[in-house]
Amino acid sequence: MAKVNFKNDNLTVDAPAGKSIKEVCDENGSSIPFGCRNGVCGTCLSTITKGKHNLRPAEENEKATLEGFGAQAPDKRLICQCKMGDKNEEVEIENP
Ligand code: FES
Repeated sequence: MAKVNFKNDNLTVDAPAGKSIKEVCDENGSSIPFGCRNGVCGTCLSTITKGKHNLRPAEENEKATLEGFGAQAPDKRLICQCKMGDKNEEVEIENP
């Protein structure tokens, strides 16, 4: 099973394929901040410092919000919109 490393928290946890990273945050006490939790406000905008190809690709609404913040997937993502991919590769997230 792949892992997610929340760099700011020095926290690494298991995350199965298809799992919402928002849920992984909630279950493990990550410090990544959330506002709308719906891909609109940009509060959870973060940098994927490793394993960016092991997140499912950004959909159109996430891409549009990212663009509004001058950011672009796959290096920058809205964590509330991310789901784990199918690879056995660690994803490392740094906020912001
Ligand atoms: S919490 Fe608002 S965009 Fe993620």
